[in-house]
Amino acid sequence: MDFKFLTEQQVNSMLDMKTCIGLMKNVFTAFAEGKMENKLRSLFPVDRGKVFGIMPAVIPTEDVCGAKLITAFHTNHAKGLPSHLGIVAVFSNDDGQLQGICDGTSITAIRTAAVSAVATELMAKKDCSTMCLIGGGVQADMHMKAITLVRDIKKVTVWCPTLAESERFCARHREQYPGIEFIPCEKCEDAVKDADIINTVTPSAVPVLFGKWVKKGAHINAVGACGKANRELDTECVVKGRLFCDNYDSCRNEAGDFIFPLDEGAVTQDHILGDLAEVISGKVIARNSDEEITIFESQGLACEDVVCAAWLLKQ
Ligand SMILES: NC(=O)c1ccc[n+]([C@@H]2O[C@H](COP(=O)([O-])OP(=O)(O)OC[C@H]3O[C@@H](n4cnc5c(N)ncnc54)[C@H](O)[C@@H]3O)[C@@H](O)[C@H]2O)c1
Repeated sequence: MDFKFLTEQQVNSMLDMKTCIGLMKNVFTAFAEGKMENKLRSLFPVDRGKVFGIMPAVIPTEDVCGAKLITAFHTNHAKGLPSHLGIVAVFSNDDGQLQGICDGTSITAIRTAAVSAVATELMAKKDCSTMCLIGGGVQADMHMKAITLVRDIKKVTVWCPTLAESERFCARHREQYPGIEFIPCEKCEDAVKDADIINTVTPSAVPVLFGKWVKKGAHINAVGACGKANRELDTECVVKGRLFCDNYDSCRNEAGDFIFPLDEGAVTQDHILGDLAEVISGKVIARNSDEEITIFESQGLACEDVVCAAWLLKQ
């Protein structure tokens, strides 16, 4: 069998954030046009803090099908390894042949933040200048790259479980973004209260972002809680916000941020006002004023990974 293999280094050098944002816009436009479908992923608990996921997708627009196989082991940092490790395999829809395998760690890192950038461009106020990062890992790095491409950010506040991690994050970004002021915060509330854009990028099982801290007009990318047992947003935050998702089925079945408030009776299924496809197509208007709080609940979809891999394998 003859197929290509692209390493993490190759993916990182070929798939820049701007290109990936364009690919992700195509994915959600294809959803809106009825050319793409999503099936729920299978998540298998391996051990405490360790999950193995299988994420299959058929992509008619690219004439391929494929799947991401990924481990999310939140204990990995102690070993000097990333928490997410995986591959994306792509097959031809014509004859079923394997076209190639790409590193899935880098694709996951880039495409997740690219999707948040698509959501931010559509949902956040136009004149956002302050951004908060709750979490300082791979996704925080990637959200720096992605969100600064769609909004003119001047100040970034950072909260991590330890002040030392927030300080490290700020120190390693100051040089890269000389026009941006970075502020490590000891209290999460201080990081959140003035932010126009808030990104939650932690694997927390309990809320880290509280609605009472969020200022009017803010946009939230809720990225970290991928599973019904996890949540980053408290109920008040979800109730206060205009809630949008990447995919209805994923949000209803996998998003603890939505499922906890639903189970508490604080919201109904109708609290999800739209998915990214409906917003990108203009069917649903995300924001009606600079006073509203918008929330993009991201679960991550297999088609995002397979579209990136198919594009990479064509280069
Ligand atoms: N929505 C998506 O498509 C998508 C894609 C990739 C990753 N994720 C999720 O995003 C989250 C972050 O991913 P990453 O690759 O940046 O991980 P990472 O391990 O690189 O970074 C995690 C960050 O969260 C902090 N953290 C760890 N436990 C915490 C806790 N209990 N409370 C608060 N902060 C905590 C860590 O200190 C670190 O700053 C993970 O939960 C991951 O599963 C979502």
